[in-house]
Amino acid sequence: CVIAAALVSRRVKSHRRWQRAAELVAEFEEGCATSVGRLKQVVDAMVVEMHAGLASDGGSKLKMLLTYVDSLPDGSEEGIFYALDLGGTNFRVLQVQLGGKGSNILKQKVERQPIPQELMISTCEKMFGFIASKLKQFVEREEGLQEGSHKTRALGFTFSFPVRQNSVSSGVLIKWTKGFDIEDIAEKDIVECLQEALTKEGLSMQVAVLVNDTVGTLALGHYHDQDTVAAVIIGTGTNACYVERPDAIIKYQGLLTNYGGMVINMEWGNFWTSHLPRTSYDIDLDEDSPNPTDQGFEKLISGMYLGEITRRVLSRVAVESEVFGDVSDKLSQPFALSTPLMATMHEDDSADLREVKRIFEQILQIPDIPLKTRRLVVKVCDIVTRRAARLVASGIVGILKKIGRDGSAPSTSGHLRAQSKRSVVAVEGGLYEGYALFRDYVDEAIVEILGEELAQNIFLKSTADGSGTGAALLAAAHLSNRKGYI
Ligand code: GLC
Repeated sequence: CVIAAALVSRRVKSHRRWQRAAELVAEFEEGCATSVGRLKQVVDAMVVEMHAGLASDGGSKLKMLLTYVDSLPDGSEEGIFYALDLGGTNFRVLQVQLGGKGSNILKQKVERQPIPQELMISTCEKMFGFIASKLKQFVEREEGLQEGSHKTRALGFTFSFPVRQNSVSSGVLIKWTKGFDIEDIAEKDIVECLQEALTKEGLSMQVAVLVNDTVGTLALGHYHDQDTVAAVIIGTGTNACYVERPDAIIKYQGLLTNYGGMVINMEWGNFWTSHLPRTSYDIDLDEDSPNPTDQGFEKLISGMYLGEITRRVLSRVAVESEVFGDVSDKLSQPFALSTPLMATMHEDDSADLREVKRIFEQILQIPDIPLKTRRLVVKVCDIVTRRAARLVASGIVGILKKIGRDGSAPSTSGHLRAQSKRSVVAVEGGLYEGYALFRDYVDEAIVEILGEELAQNIFLKSTADGSGTGAALLAAAHLSNRKGYI
């Protein structure tokens, strides 16, 4: 009888534990809800903010920055060009050989390496010195020692932060994002900083263009497919750019008389509207971040944060429900769960969720979590990722709507009609390329927002290394009328 009572009490306790865990997850799911109605509100808010950001500086949280990129590569570019790509988890050095009309990219070499954590918060001299030395080693490997005999090469510099540009090859940082924080860069021209470091290394290289990663991605997308009108990055951070008519860029009207169209760097990571689904976990994450109230959209979407949101939810579930058993300190450590690991758990299709078990054991130091708990973990990953992907979809539809390519323009008879025009959006970033469930959720939401018929003219095309390759292409396009670099 005593044993029976103990068993009943254990069952009741276990039931309560599960109830609390399920409650917490259900609450979180509700907070992350993205009904089609809500997504459409986000689309409209994006359009409104785009207009406001184009009307005046500071008119919106969307900065809508000028890039001075007014022509995109078309395939006629020729020669050897370099690019440096700085701004995500990895730093990249590239060499691109272009064959001119009809021959496309002949050869491309890319070297990637993680940015040492300490450099992200060091000094300008150290940061630019580091990248210049990496470029030098790369050039020497590719072309032999540069001792004066080599021609000056042109370089495209992808610098993936908000920059106020004065021309296509100069600009000043507005603020750091994604955990970078080098104070002495304020007011300095970024291209001058890099050019100085290159000279110190004895490299004969001219920085021809300074571009955001979105702009590089757009350039490569356009090189391959001229219907490409916008580009989106979903990596460590998130952002988008697109081609705008100069008369729509009201804040710079006097300045832009010579321009046909111009690429606008939206800096959509900083987009905000009260329609965005936000939970207490997001609010806490924001408050604990080095840039509270900034990059609100990015904090719901990008690779820097998705693993951390998941960890925060799981950590609370662990403390309040005990479904994880004895919990290690690891789970309560900020950023202990990276987004790639979160994605691996989400995509674990083994019957016993082996990967979830392994990651909990090896990374979070919690062994033997029961299968039921593993399922709960996958559910949380799914909620976080689905919300992020659906918000990306709303952002993309927002851009297309702003430029009249979402098919919603009324026909002469006043009815909505399917547009025959293809619109291509180049997409890049680890979160998109390597994460099939994320991609599926983006596609699904675009169809939900626009309907099957309108969505069929919208193509999302994944590009790899586009941000860097595109910068080399832009350097080539920019210099194509000048001599001496090739
Ligand atoms: C951050 C940067 C932005 C960049 C994006 C993707 O949002 O501010 O410039 O494009 O990350 O790397």
